[in-house]
Amino acid sequence: MTRATITGLGTAVGNKVITNHDLAAVLDTSDEWIVERTGIHERRVGGSCLELGGQAARIALKEAEMDASDLDLIICATCTPDQVFPAVSNRLQEDLGAACGAFDLNAACSGFTYAISLAQAQISAGMERVLVVGVDTLSRFTDWDDRSTAILFGDGAGAVVMEPARRDDRGVLSTYMGSEGRFADLLTCDFGDYIRMDGKEVFRQAVRVMVSASRRVLADAGLEPSDVTVVIPHQANLRIIESAMKRLGIPLGKAATVIEVTGNTSSASIPLAMGAAVSKSGIADGDVVLLVGFGAGMSVAAALLRWGR
Ligand code: COA
Repeated sequence: MTRATITGLGTAVGNKVITNHDLAAVLDTSDEWIVERTGIHERRVGGSCLELGGQAARIALKEAEMDASDLDLIICATCTPDQVFPAVSNRLQEDLGAACGAFDLNAACSGFTYAISLAQAQISAGMERVLVVGVDTLSRFTDWDDRSTAILFGDGAGAVVMEPARRDDRGVLSTYMGSEGRFADLLTCDFGDYIRMDGKEVFRQAVRVMVSASRRVLADAGLEPSDVTVVIPHQANLRIIESAMKRLGIPLGKAATVIEVTGNTSSASIPLAMGAAVSKSGIADGDVVLLVGFGAGMSVAAALLRWGR
């Protein structure tokens, strides 16, 4: 099987910074409460999905040394598109100067990892250059007067270019896509409304599905938790990440995080954390990288990759 591997990565965040202190000035909350319960210090807001996604995609294409006109497919994971239709990916295709097929995918905060799975499937079926974008602008759907949700969300984008790996043991090793519709009412956003959430229950289910999806992709690849070099989890709450890492038996130091300065950016959070990991300590050739996302639905997805061409 041809494996897809990441050959370019780009990120972008909203240009306005909102700190916990800014929120505490207008809501009955405090920096200490938010940091202790979530690990978030500040979040970035602003920009459309097209603007943020385009910015991230251009950086990823440049790193992959690829012209947009050479792309075979654009998959954009988002649950907050700029319009009902056309798709963000369709606008991106025109904006970037690509001439390929393009579609959006909504699997809430699991979207980026779902898209990695689809890119792998298309590359193993013969495509050669797939752009995966994860972008969300949750600030538009956040009730900034509701302290239980306003503290959590931000806007951002991340993009990766995926191409066939040159070596058989590099690239995507295994993927998993899951959905547990019986939990759909725990986290919702109706047309014309804001994000509504049962935070405690989302927390509990998130840890459970992250752990089970991670174990599944590890088992499918014949690997153990101790083989993982870097975990790149969805950035919803640092405490969720800590609990999941503990249950998986993987040291917390192996988890890439960016939530401290971005908040929860939904489909963008995993590529943003990947970008942070690459610029902080680097991800080395041969490293085993576990991506694991979860979100409204509950949706859940995981992908295991061996880094390198
Ligand atoms: N500042 C201060 N107090 C707050 C507050 C805030 N921003 N938000 C809620 N509170 C209060 C509540 O009113 C409650 O007060 P009470 O005890 O007087 O009723 C108390 O703090 C505890 O609230 P609770 O909702 O039980 O807190 P929690 O420990 O569950 O933390 C979340 C709340 C939202 C941080 C946490 O549940 C969470 O992060 N859940 C996951 C959400 C998530 O990840 N969603 C996206 C998934 S993709």
